[in-house]
Amino acid sequence: MFSLSSRLRERLNAGAARSPHVRVEGQPPEMVREDFDRIAGLIEDPDAIDRWTELVIPQVPDGCDVLEVGCGIGALARRLAARARRVLAIDLSPRMVEVARRCSAGHDNLEVREADLMAWEAPGTFDAVVSIAAVHHLPFEVAVSRLAALVRPGGQLLVLDMFAARGLRELPYKVLFRFAGGRRHRRL
Ligand SMILES: C[S@@+](CC[C@H](N)C(=O)[O-])C[C@H]1O[C@@H](n2cnc3c(N)ncnc32)[C@H](O)[C@@H]1O
Repeated sequence: MFSLSSRLRERLNAGAARSPHVRVEGQPPEMVREDFDRIAGLIEDPDAIDRWTELVIPQVPDGCDVLEVGCGIGALARRLAARARRVLAIDLSPRMVEVARRCSAGHDNLEVREADLMAWEAPGTFDAVVSIAAVHHLPFEVAVSRLAALVRPGGQLLVLDMFAARGLRELPYKVLFRFAGGRRHRRL
């Protein structure tokens, strides 16, 4: 995910103090769009990828057609374009799309489009559909069903996201997370 500047962290913390509704599943798209339009201008390294996202890259077969949903400024899409036949990357935020396009000049097999997964009419299906840290902004079941419908038969769906493990039943997730060296993020 993004490496956030200290300026952005300050702003998010200030926003969180005003509103408890920042970053919850099922936020209205206008709110998500507005947040990420603001964040797009504050990202320090446009090619930074965290180690969890790194794990996804080798799972995508070489030479295939890939869709990335919620591509942000396109760091992963550019990495995937190096091994895919073609990458189509979509994002809800016009500013994210603008930055992603600017940073992706010269990647001829990568196209970045502004689109809302929940309302998008896809041009077809893909060998692999990838989504990193976008689904938690959406109603989970509907979003994952939409993603799955975009995968061609026998293709791959790769979703990497986060959730807050609660209660005893979800304790094993917390333990696994600690063993895997995960860091807790502040709830905004
Ligand atoms: C936390 S960011 C993650 C960006 C990138 N995948 C990464 O890991 O750095 C979530 C991204 O999902 C996008 N997003 C949220 N809801 C979306 C939707 N309904 N359709 C498409 N993109 C969406 C946001 O605009 C934002 O760029």
